[in-house]
Amino acid sequence: MKKTFCFLLIASILEIGMAVSSAAQTPPFCLMPYPKELTAGEGHLAVDSAFSVVLQGAKSERLQRYARRFLERLSARTGIEFDQPALSTADNFQAALTVQWQEEAQLHPGMDESYDLRITPQSAEIRAATDVGAMRGLETLIQLLDAGPEGYFFPAVTIHDEPRFTWRGLLIDVARHFMPPEVIRRNLDAMAAVKLNVLHLHLTDDQGFRIESKRFPRLHQFGSDGQYFTQEQMRELILYAADRGIRVVPEFDVPGHCTSWLVGYPELGSQPGPYQIEPEWGIKYPVLNVADEHVYRFLDQFFGEMAALFPDPYFHIGGDEVEHKRGHVAEHWNNNPQIQSFKKKHGIQTNGELQAYFNRRIYRILQRHGKTMVGWDEILRPDMPKDIVIQSWQGAESMVAAAKNGYRSILSSGYYLDLNLPASLHYLNDPLADNPNLTPEEISRILGGEACMWSEFVGPENIDSRIWPRLAAVAERLWSPADIRDVDEMYRRLEVIGQELEEHGVTHEKNYGMMLRRLARYRDPSALKTLVDVLEPVKYYRRNQLRKQTRFTPLSRVVDAARPDAPVARHFREAVDRFLRDSGQERATIEKSIRARLQQWKENHQRLLPLFGYSPVLREVQGLSQDLARVAEIGLQALQWLDSGKTAPKAWQDQSLRVLEEASAPRGQAELIVLEGIKKLVLAAAGSQPQ
Ligand code: ACM
Repeated sequence: MKKTFCFLLIASILEIGMAVSSAAQTPPFCLMPYPKELTAGEGHLAVDSAFSVVLQGAKSERLQRYARRFLERLSARTGIEFDQPALSTADNFQAALTVQWQEEAQLHPGMDESYDLRITPQSAEIRAATDVGAMRGLETLIQLLDAGPEGYFFPAVTIHDEPRFTWRGLLIDVARHFMPPEVIRRNLDAMAAVKLNVLHLHLTDDQGFRIESKRFPRLHQFGSDGQYFTQEQMRELILYAADRGIRVVPEFDVPGHCTSWLVGYPELGSQPGPYQIEPEWGIKYPVLNVADEHVYRFLDQFFGEMAALFPDPYFHIGGDEVEHKRGHVAEHWNNNPQIQSFKKKHGIQTNGELQAYFNRRIYRILQRHGKTMVGWDEILRPDMPKDIVIQSWQGAESMVAAAKNGYRSILSSGYYLDLNLPASLHYLNDPLADNPNLTPEEISRILGGEACMWSEFVGPENIDSRIWPRLAAVAERLWSPADIRDVDEMYRRLEVIGQELEEHGVTHEKNYGMMLRRLARYRDPSALKTLVDVLEPVKYYRRNQLRKQTRFTPLSRVVDAARPDAPVARHFREAVDRFLRDSGQERATIEKSIRARLQQWKENHQRLLPLFGYSPVLREVQGLSQDLARVAEIGLQALQWLDSGKTAPKAWQDQSLRVLEEASAPRGQAELIVLEGIKKLVLAAAGSQPQ
C-alpha cells in the first residue's frame, strides 16, 4: 500500500524511530493537492509491461506529448519497458488507461480543469471536459502509483476533482537574479505536477531588465548584464508552459522599480541621470516621468511589442512601492519642476493621485492592445475601472477591499516564499476561510493566489530549494477543499510528493548535497550536514539587515545551502512534543531517539572543527556549531532530570535558558532551529509551564 510506503519513508527520514509516526492518524493516499472527492475501491490495477494508454478526444497535440511524458515517468519510476505501442489514439485500441476529453482548452482563468478518475482491477479511465483537465488527472494517477510484493499497481479508486480557485500561480523574479530558461522549464514541470496554472514572470526591476525588446534594444542591452530572455526563448517558454496547461503572465513594473529602463533611456526618468543598473536591494528612488507625453508614447510602443509576444490576456504593470509607507516617498517626483507644475495644472494633490493618473493612462494603453491590467495592491483606487485585477501583497485586507469594491483579486500576502517561513504557515493562509464576511458575489471576485519567489537572495543553484517543496502546500491550499487543512497530514504527504518532484529536474534536494560538498572543499561533508540540517536562513527581511548584500554577493555560503522549514529540525520538534505528551513504552522509544539525536549534535562540533581550518567560508558559522553542542548538552541534562523523577533546580533552568537565548543569535545570516524543542525539555525538567 502507498500508505505503508508513505509511512516508512517518513520514518526513515526521521531517523529517530518509528514510534514518532506510529501514533499518527492513518494517512490517506499520498496525493497533493488532495482531490475534492475520493472513494477507495477494492483491489488494484497492475502496472506491468502490458500497460498502455489510449487517447480519445478532440485534437490536442499537447495532450499526446503530455501522455508520452507520463509514460516515460511511469517507466522511469518502475523500471518497466512497456510493450509498443504503449500510446495510441486509435478508437479500437484496447488499453489499460483510457483518457477522454471534449475539447482543447483555451488557456484563461476559469478554464475547466475538472476530471474524473476511475481505477478498477481491470482498467483505469480519466474523463475530462478539456485536455487540461485530463493533464490534471494524469498527475493524480501517477501520484497514486504504488508497489507491493506482487509488483507495481494503481489502487482501485474513484475520484472527482476540480480546483477551488481558478488562478493558482507562482511568481518568479527573474530581474534581481536572472533565471535561465532551464530553471523556468524545470519549475514549470514541477508546477504542472501539483496542478498550478499560472507562471508570473517579474521581468524588470531596478537590478535588471530581462526581456529582449526589438523596438527599444537599449532596454535589455543597457539594462542588464547580458543575461535576459531573447524573444525566441520566451516564445519557447510560453509554449512549454501552455503544453502543461500553464499561462505565462508577464510583469513590467512601472512607474517605480524602473532603474534598469533608465540606463539606456534616461529621458524616461524624473531626474536627468545618468543611471546605472542598481547593485543593491531595497526600494529605490528612480521613477518614470509621468508628466511627460514621451513616456506614454514609449510605453504604448513597448507594451504593444510585449502584448504581441505574450499571448495571455492578462498583463501586469507592477505599480508597487512608488509612495512607500516606510518613509520612502517619490523623491524624484518631488524634485522635478515639470512634475510639480503638472500636478498643479491638473489639480493633483498627492503623489498617490499622480500614480493613479498614470495608471488610468496605462489602463487605456493596455485596453488598446487587448490586455487586462493586473497590478499590486497600490493601484487599488476608487477611480480605477472595475475590470482590472488587484494582486494583494501587503495584507489580505486589500484583497477584501478589492472584492468589496467590485474588483477581482489574487492573494499573495501570506505566500511569500522568500521570507523563509514554514510551509504550515503558507498552508493555513486561506484566501476565503480567513475572511468570512464576504458575499458570494465578492467571493467570486477572488480568483485565487500566487506564491512569490523574489530573487534578491537566490540564484539558479538554490532557487528551487526556496520554492520546493513548500509551494506544493500552497498548491493544495488553492486547489483542494478548504477543510483539508490538517498540518501534520500535509507534512506527511509533502515529504513524499516533494521528493517525487525531483524527477522533473528541480534541484531542491540534490543541490543541497552539492553545495555542502563544495563548502567542505570535497572533504567528508557529513559533520557539516549535521549542522546545516538544523540551520535555517533568517526570516522575513532580516538577511539584508544583518549584512548588506548586492547583486554581486555570491549565493554559495552556508545560509544559501540551509533550507527554510528544515525537516530535521521540524521532526525534532514533533518528537519532543510527542515525548512530553506520551507515556509508557511509546515515551521510552521516543526518548531514545531524541537522546541519540542530542548526542550526535553534542559531538558534532568536535567532528566539524577540522573543516573550519580547511574551509574559511565556513568560519562564520563556527559559533553556531559550538552552540549546537552546548544546547544539545542542555537537552541531555534535561532528559536526565526527567528520568530521575526529580525536579531540576531553578538555577539550572535559568542558566540553561540563558544559554538557549544566546544561541538564538544568527551567525552568517543563519540561525539554529532546534532551540524551541530543547527549551520545552528544559521547562518540563524544571516543572515550569511552557511560556
Ligand atoms: C512587492 O513585494 N513589492 C510586490
